This record gives sequence, C-alpha cells and structure tokens, in this order.
Amino acid sequence: MQVRVNNLTFAYTQKLILNDVSFNLESGEFLTLVGKNGTGKSTLIKCLLKILKVPDGTVFFDNVDINAIKLFKNVGYVPQKVEFSYEFPITVSEILTSAYLKVKDEYFNKVINSLGINPFYRDNINNLSGGQFQKVMIARALLNHPQLLILDEPTVGIDNESMLALYEVLEKLKEKKVTIIISTHDTDFSKDLSDYYLELNEVGVFRIYK
Ligand SMILES: Nc1ncnc2c1ncn2[C@@H]1O[C@H](COP(=O)(O)OP(=O)(O)O)[C@@H](O)[C@H]1O
Ligand SMILES: [Mg+2]
Repeated sequence: MQVRVNNLTFAYTQKLILNDVSFNLESGEFLTLVGKNGTGKSTLIKCLLKILKVPDGTVFFDNVDINAIKLFKNVGYVPQKVEFSYEFPITVSEILTSAYLKVKDEYFNKVINSLGINPFYRDNINNLSGGQFQKVMIARALLNHPQLLILDEPTVGIDNESMLALYEVLEKLKEKKVTIIISTHDTDFSKDLSDYYLELNEVGVFRIYK
C-alpha cells in the first residue's frame, strides 16, 4: 500500500507535537520512526490510523484520503504495549477470533503456528509474558492480510527469541510488498529492514534520512 502524508500538523491542546510532517512510502517500503520518548511517535501513528483526527487532504492510502475510508480493511496495527489494558478479561483465542472476519481457515492456523501461539491459545491475556502478548497482537494484525502494517515500539519487553521471530515476520512481509511503519529505540533491530528513518524531536521538527 502506498502511503502519502502531506503537511501533517498536530497539537493536543496548546503544545505542538507534529509540525508540518510530510513523507511518501511506496508499497513494500519500510519506515522506522525514531526520537526520544514524548516526541510524538505514537501520535503520528494514531493520526495515520484515524485514532486522532487530521484535516482532509493530509493522509492518503493508495491515493484515497483516509477521512473518506470508513473501515481500514488492509491495515494492521500493533499498539504500544503500555497503552493496552490488561484488566480486561479476555483470552488469546477470543482476541484472535474476534479480529478475524472469516471462519478459521488454513491461513489462520498458519499465522498461529508460525508465531508459536498454540501453547497459550486458551490462556487469559493477563497470564502472558511480554513476548507472548506481543505475538498475539502481531497475529491479530496479520490475520486480515494487511497491506500496511504499523507497529508501535514492538521490540520493548520481548526476549531475543521473540525478537528474532518478529524480525522474520517483518522480513517476509516486506518481501510480499507490505508497507511497514514501526517506531523503535532499537535501531539495530530495524537497520537491515529500514528504507527510511523519520526522526521527531521535542519541537515538532522532523527529518528523514536513509
Ligand atoms: N491524549 C493526550 N493528550 C494530551 N497530550 C498527550 C496525549 N497523548 C500524548 N500526549 C503528549 O504528546 C507528546 C507526544 O506523545 P507520544 O506521541 O506518546 O510520544 P512518543 O510515542 O514519541 O513517546 C507527549 O508530550 C505526551 O505527553
Ligand atoms: Mg509512543
């Protein structure tokens, strides 16, 4: 999926978070968002996902203004972990089947197996380790065949084995021309995947580099 961002400016109240951010991604390109905590990485991601409202003419997916899209069918999102409520009683199986529009099929089983989710498939999410929870959120994002996958700090709190599994998933998706945007402090992780970096700073200024 092609992503185009034109002059995106965003402030929560007074404080300007994103100042005139523009960039383009072609299908299969990989963008890494970097910048210290509080510089607006999650805010930028939420603008792309319509969790936060942006003016018409700002964000386009395949040349369609996202404000004109009712439901994102081919967009996968893995939220930043701290923002997810663990209080809510729900099992892995419930999260995954509710995300899936069709009945369980071969693809569903393939995603579950490739991420190694079976051993904790019936568990409540409160009982999962950080890496296990991460895998569930990744599986959830993959189930609807995303053409754009957005992951907010996916490498935080997961072990090396899970990190490698995540890396391999992203590598395969990139080969399949899925556009990927991740935010991370771990630039080593995304070094070989990344086509561009977008760095945000405290005053909303950004720069893009390769
Ligand atoms: N819902 C909100 N209301 C007001 N300010 C917010 C809200 N969410 C985030 N902020 C502020 O916006 C800034 C950017 O936050 P965020 O996008 O989460 O940064 P990052 O993901 O880079 O750590 C921070 O100063 C944060 O405190
Ligand atoms: Mg964040």
